[in-house]
Amino acid sequence: MNFIKVNTYDELSCKAAALICSQVVMKPDCVLGLATGSSPLGAYAKMAQKCKDGEVDFSRVKSINLDEYVGLDGQHDQSYRYFMNNNLFKHINIDINNTHVPNGCATDVDAECKAYDALIESVGGIDLQLLGIGLDGHIGFNEPDSYFEKTTHKVELDPSTIDANARFFASRDDVPTTAITMGMGGIMSAKKVLLIANGKGKKDIVEKAFFGPITPAVPASILQLHPDLTVIYSEN
Ligand code: F6R
Repeated sequence: MNFIKVNTYDELSCKAAALICSQVVMKPDCVLGLATGSSPLGAYAKMAQKCKDGEVDFSRVKSINLDEYVGLDGQHDQSYRYFMNNNLFKHINIDINNTHVPNGCATDVDAECKAYDALIESVGGIDLQLLGIGLDGHIGFNEPDSYFEKTTHKVELDPSTIDANARFFASRDDVPTTAITMGMGGIMSAKKVLLIANGKGKKDIVEKAFFGPITPAVPASILQLHPDLTVIYSEN
């Protein structure tokens, strides 16, 4: 594991954007695994700037997002599809048809999960997976559990995750309680994993996840077993 501690969120975002853009430069038709949430916003803005400056070309890139709320369609301003379109895809020259987010409104959620895993396989797996980490150690929406779930699946969100995400909705009651998430198999089979975390509030969980025992009670801890893991943490 390559654990990089930086001093500011801006530094974290610069390093993360540089690593992701290097991946695209090295393999222009690569598959990027992408995350939503507040952690990657700075990196996404810097990736957009690099694209605008002609430093990187996303035209052949495919992207596969980690998760989506069940019940929200892509027009809903809290859906992860909406987030990705507005915070990244609109600002880079990626082909929107090559961007993938689970369909939270699928009538058959189990079939959607199976199709998502088939999609990951059909594109030859993910080259670089970007992750944030939840306060309970979740990655994607893989919540603490008694085992690591391998495939894409529907998940009941942990109350602490609902609390954390309530800030984006009109009220806590509006936060969906279930989501579709890529499983640990999809994440762990990515060739490279880059996890970013910032803020004093994440210090304890980052220590537990990367320097504590590997346990499904702290889902991100499984990443210690990944052969090409980079963690960038900024306390500020
Ligand atoms: C979002 C995702 C989540 C977030 C995590 C941290 O696609 O997969 O696991 O990465 O909840 O969220 P932030 O970055 O908002 O602290």
